[in-house]
Amino acid sequence: MIADRRIKIAPSILAADFANFGAECAAIEAQGCDWVHVDVMDGHFVPNITFGPATCAAIRPHIKGVMDVHLMVAPVDPYIEAFAQAGADVISAHLEAGPHIHRTLQAIRGAGAKAGLAINPGTGIEDVRYLLDMVDLVCVMTVNPGFGGQKFIHSQIEKVRRLREMIGDRPIHIEIDGGVTVETAPLVAAAGADVLVAGSAVFKGGSVSNPGPYGDNIRAIRAAAEAAR
Ligand code: DX5
Ligand code: ZN
Repeated sequence: MIADRRIKIAPSILAADFANFGAECAAIEAQGCDWVHVDVMDGHFVPNITFGPATCAAIRPHIKGVMDVHLMVAPVDPYIEAFAQAGADVISAHLEAGPHIHRTLQAIRGAGAKAGLAINPGTGIEDVRYLLDMVDLVCVMTVNPGFGGQKFIHSQIEKVRRLREMIGDRPIHIEIDGGVTVETAPLVAAAGADVLVAGSAVFKGGSVSNPGPYGDNIRAIRAAAEAAR
């Protein structure tokens, strides 16, 4: 079975109003997003702290579709069960977060979630090769993880192209995370990505009380990506 390769827009709630996550999730879904991307940061693996499984559980009832949880956490294994219990559909762990990523991916699937493997901009794809049977998604970081609103790193486009070749017909999504805009979305879509995370580029100009710009932004990114395929 080949994974659904239509373009999917996954707004990162890192760029949402932290005092209003439930309403923000409902607003971006009503405005046409496909997945909701949730960035968990621990102040250790990355130099920023966001929130944990309790917050994920609290926002879960406000999301009808896919809750895509990106764990920027080390060690990660002790927390997988808690994020699965919180209702994550996809849990991504970083290849760089520990010495036993194979075991981590097994644990994610064992907990009943889809397994995502995130790789930093400085990480090559050779280490992904022997994990392909273990993953449902590879998340290519196009910024160094830790903060929203950073500049897209163009050297990652070639990585996406080579990863798409390596994946072949396997049912694995390629997700792009960091600096996705109307300008950069076509570049990664052409290279073979199908899930586009976007924080600042989706939430800019809008709010819970004025959600129309969220929809405009989502449609513009989607149209740019689809046109590039
Ligand atoms: C970075 C996070 C991203 C980030 C993307 O560590 O994983 O999801 O929020 O934000 P933008 O789209 O603003 O680059
Ligand atoms: Zn992310």
